[in-house]
Amino acid sequence: MNGSAAPTIRADALTKRFGDFVAVSDVSFEIRAGEIWGFLGPNGAGKSTTIRMLCGVLSPTSGSAEVLGFDVARDPEEVKLRIGYMAQGSSLWNDLSVQEHLRFYAGLFGLAGTKREDAISHWLKRLDLYGQRARLAGTLSGGYRKRLALACTLLHEPQMVFLDEPTSGVDPLSRREFWDIIVALAEAGTTVLVTTHYLDEAEHCNDLALIYDGKIVASGTPESLKRDARNGITAEILSPDTVRVLDAIETQPFVASAGLYGSALHVCIRERDGLDRLSQFLQEHAIPVDSIAQVTPSLEDVFASLVGKR
Ligand SMILES: Nc1ncnc2c1ncn2[C@@H]1O[C@H](COP(=O)(O)OP(=O)(O)OP(=O)(O)O)[C@@H](O)[C@H]1O
Ligand SMILES: [Mg+2]
Repeated sequence: MNGSAAPTIRADALTKRFGDFVAVSDVSFEIRAGEIWGFLGPNGAGKSTTIRMLCGVLSPTSGSAEVLGFDVARDPEEVKLRIGYMAQGSSLWNDLSVQEHLRFYAGLFGLAGTKREDAISHWLKRLDLYGQRARLAGTLSGGYRKRLALACTLLHEPQMVFLDEPTSGVDPLSRREFWDIIVALAEAGTTVLVTTHYLDEAEHCNDLALIYDGKIVASGTPESLKRDARNGITAEILSPDTVRVLDAIETQPFVASAGLYGSALHVCIRERDGLDRLSQFLQEHAIPVDSIAQVTPSLEDVFASLVGKR
């Protein structure tokens, strides 16, 4: 990662309206070269819409963005040539084979001759698609469709890659493979913007931004987000009746969020004396608990405390 270079992406007050509805509101951020930048947020928060503006396929209502030095509104074609974009929905043709897809994308990005064949063979092998190369995309399983879409995205070695939920519907071992590839790309200097709903995956990112209702509500490294004092404390409660505890506390004003975490209950409180208040509340209401302790919040806790009660 090169900290002194110009950022690969600079978004400045990026906004998208659909009629009266504001899908993305005043979003600003920078992504440095070689970084894995994770974009998190609940369904409908505005992640895909932001990505589509950055890829030059949707024009911003206001604000601006530069990708690899090109303005996305003024030079969308320059942007499209230099990036890889794996859209959230399938962009495959059911009646083209795996190999035909790769040949098509290679042509689109000007790869020819041995360079084209080498790239295709590399990604067929790397994504375990070689045995499937003659199959029609329409007959592939969901996970293999994702593999093919990823191969098509990376074939031309773009400097900047946008991956919109690359691993949704992908089995756990394959997810790990996808992330090995993403990490290797970044190590080789490629910049990656990735969205995911799997918060364990977000731990692989150098930087994260949380978007909610079209606005970025938090950003930072996974570590700094977890440390952030605004999140107060996270308490872990063990109880013989977790559901009763959850019912009792989740509506309390001092509780930012509460939810099951394995067999325990995790409660986020945005106050330093949160643990005392929680203990006192449980005692006063004679709610039985086995233990209550402050724990290091997981990203899931951070996420829940920021968007859980809004
Ligand atoms: N073309 C469109 N016309 C009208 N509304 C749209 C359009 N595209 C997106 N939206 C709305 O904008 C909001 C943001 O959608 P977006 O797809 O960016 O969310 P997202 O964060 O990617 O969600 P998900 O996690 O479900 O993929 C949603 O309310 C969506 O319905
Ligand atoms: Mg989306």
